[in-house]
Amino acid sequence: MRPLLFAANWKMHLGPDAARAYLDQFLAGYTPQPDRKVWFFPPAISLDTVSRRIAGRPDLLAGAQDVHWEPKGAFTGATSVPLAAEAGARAALVGHSERRHVFGETDADTARKVRAVLAGGLVPVLCVGETLAQREAGETLAVARRQLLAALDGLETDALRRVVIAYEPVWAIGTGRNATPADAAQVHSEIRSWLTGRGAASPMVLYGGSVNLKNIAELLAERELDGVLVGGASLDAATWVQLVSTPVA
Ligand code: PGA
Repeated sequence: MRPLLFAANWKMHLGPDAARAYLDQFLAGYTPQPDRKVWFFPPAISLDTVSRRIAGRPDLLAGAQDVHWEPKGAFTGATSVPLAAEAGARAALVGHSERRHVFGETDADTARKVRAVLAGGLVPVLCVGETLAQREAGETLAVARRQLLAALDGLETDALRRVVIAYEPVWAIGTGRNATPADAAQVHSEIRSWLTGRGAASPMVLYGGSVNLKNIAELLAERELDGVLVGGASLDAATWVQLVSTPVA
């Protein structure tokens, strides 16, 4: 059985009331499948609601979209790993392209955040991916390697084994343009060999960037993809039920 992970990144959508209504609809419509897990990354304000609503379902998990690297302190507006964990988070996105490109997060920040997430017992989902200019300059694989090295260098093998990677080309996020399965596969294979070369035996590598009902089957037919990280197409519960129920050969 090929284990698959479907991750929903709600970004700045779905407050507690909307999240509750969404999950009622999702839970009523989705039949759990033994080959797949579904992770939700709601805004921090809805984490508690989401984690309570999915409690008792081992195939479902809630995570934070971003965390600060310090466990506590005077960091107005930030969410620490222990606070996210208290609200039910079991994973956290790190280095999402919007954090890097809108909020100016650096490679060094991602390194601190990965360590904080691991120290807090959560699963880091490290996002990597090139800009359009970098792709056109032929730097796609080099950018992925640089971002992996910056965020993960020096981690013990045990820690490295717990990290999930999401390859999300910046030019594909929210643009309606997605990488072809073959393009994605090439980067996934590079990421996988980077990790296995450091002892992480079977890393999970997700693809993200304009995944939707039209392209999901074709993307998942590519065996290099262990799942998907989805923004826009995860915001409607009925669409998400359909997407995560996609049959895979
Ligand atoms: P998108 O977002 O599916 O809307 O392109 C993906 C992401 O940013 O994780």
